Amino acid sequence: MRYFIITGSSRGIGKTLTEKLLSPNHHLFCISREVNNELLSLAESNNVSMDYFDVDLKDVHKLDDLMNQIIQKIDASIIESIYLVNNAAVVKPVEFISQSEPNGIIDHMNINLIAPMLLTSSFIKYTKALKVDKRVMNISSGLSFNLKPMLSCYSTSKAGLETFVKSIGVEQGDVKIMGVRPGATDTQMYEESVVTDERASEIKLAKTSYAAERILTFLLDRFEHGKVVKAW
Ligand SMILES: NC(=O)c1ccc[n+]([C@@H]2O[C@H](COP(=O)([O-])OP(=O)(O)OC[C@H]3O[C@@H](n4cnc5c(N)ncnc54)[C@H](OP(=O)(O)O)[C@@H]3O)[C@@H](O)[C@H]2O)c1
Repeated sequence: MRYFIITGSSRGIGKTLTEKLLSPNHHLFCISREVNNELLSLAESNNVSMDYFDVDLKDVHKLDDLMNQIIQKIDASIIESIYLVNNAAVVKPVEFISQSEPNGIIDHMNINLIAPMLLTSSFIKYTKALKVDKRVMNISSGLSFNLKPMLSCYSTSKAGLETFVKSIGVEQGDVKIMGVRPGATDTQMYEESVVTDERASEIKLAKTSYAAERILTFLLDRFEHGKVVKAW
């Protein structure tokens, strides 16, 4: 059995990624604030084990317990591999930093940076006894280095996430870690991010199926420990 923990599965790239992983020898753990009932029914009709956790990742103090609960559901006698995909993120606040409410900045950093760090930390800790292939994939963005006005929180959280991948890459061998940057993809997040970009209408958006396929290729076939790569 291959186990997958996917954050941000309710819509966008994470939802399509989860759909592509619906297979009877996969057990999927989905995390988002809204439970995606369509995914739960699809899993049931395809005979796939799925546990859905409606969790707000900004409640960062609950995440160690969440990971502990998930790892306890794993059957050590049949596990082949386990994957954590830190995909959930927000783009807001999309505004000049002086206009942002303190809590808006704090929530953003908690969801986009602190939550993936804590989930990775707990994942490494609670899977220690499992002697199988263990991988963490963090979803970043080209905006980690391609800087634009009003997106400082997003660029900062994604740059931090990329540095985290590289740092854990040099300290860890047991669990492997990687980052990928999907290209511009047709999702709610993309719509929320382009308010400042005059050339937005010229950009050709990828479908979520393309982004999800590329992420899966790197996760399953072209995994490079400690590296962050573009996935388009
Ligand atoms: N779309 C693009 O052009 C693009 C480009 C480069 C990188 N990316 C990256 O790709 C990943 C997926 O983005 P997307 O475009 O698919 O975004 P999206 O359509 O807005 O979906 C975001 C997902 O994250 C979840 N999420 C947001 N806040 C959360 C919270 N507080 N707690 C738990 N879950 C939360 C949402 O679920 P709920 O609302 O139900 O909680 C949703 O499932 C992100 O890491 C993004 O930075 C996207």
